[in-house]
Amino acid sequence: MQLIIMENAAQIGEAAGKLFVDAINKKPNIVLGLATGASPVPTYQYIYKAYERGEVSLRDVTTYNLDEYVGLPKSDKNSYYTFMHRELFDHTDICEENVHFLDGNAADAEAECARYDAALDKAGVDIQLLGVGRNGHIGFNEPSICFTRGAFKVKLTESTIEANSQYFDENPMPHYALTMGVGSIMKAKKIVMIATGAAKADAMAAMIKGEVTPVCPASILQFHHDVVVYMDKEAARLL
Ligand code: F6R
Repeated sequence: MQLIIMENAAQIGEAAGKLFVDAINKKPNIVLGLATGASPVPTYQYIYKAYERGEVSLRDVTTYNLDEYVGLPKSDKNSYYTFMHRELFDHTDICEENVHFLDGNAADAEAECARYDAALDKAGVDIQLLGVGRNGHIGFNEPSICFTRGAFKVKLTESTIEANSQYFDENPMPHYALTMGVGSIMKAKKIVMIATGAAKADAMAAMIKGEVTPVCPASILQFHHDVVVYMDKEAARLL
């Protein structure tokens, strides 16, 4: 695991953003696994500003997002579909048919998860971007008694509901989501994680210094051969 400790979220956005821009320029038809939440926003800003400067094109890029809430209309401002369009896709030349999400409104969640897993396996993710929950979750793989393999419907924990309910005002925050499994995340050729703020310090310590256990799902990254973790000083406080 390569650990990179930086001053603040803005610096991390620049460094991680540059990593993605360079990777896209090297392989224009790259397959990216993407995350939502606050952590990747400066990275997405760097990428679309590089696009605006003519330094990169996302025309041939394919993306798969990690997760989506269950039962939230696609058009809701808090759906991850809307988040990704607002924070990245709408500012670039990415093709809509190349962006992929789990459908949180699918009538048959199990079939939807199987469809997504098959598509992911066929595409093969080159770089997976991850944030991390205060409780060590990746995607919405919450602390558990075993590591998950493929996509599944998950009941969100109180910790996650507390962390994310700040964004919900009109519609209440869903308590269920569909998420890529840990096994699928681990299949990515490269993983880039971003963790900022003091609230992530415990998760960073458990992920990096603790034992590999599903109680801290992110700890599985110790077994991946190519992981880069960008942290600010607050998130790295307990290392
Ligand atoms: C989002 C996701 C989550 C977040 C995590 C951190 O797609 O999969 O694992 O990465 O909850 O969220 P932020 O970045 O808002 O602290």
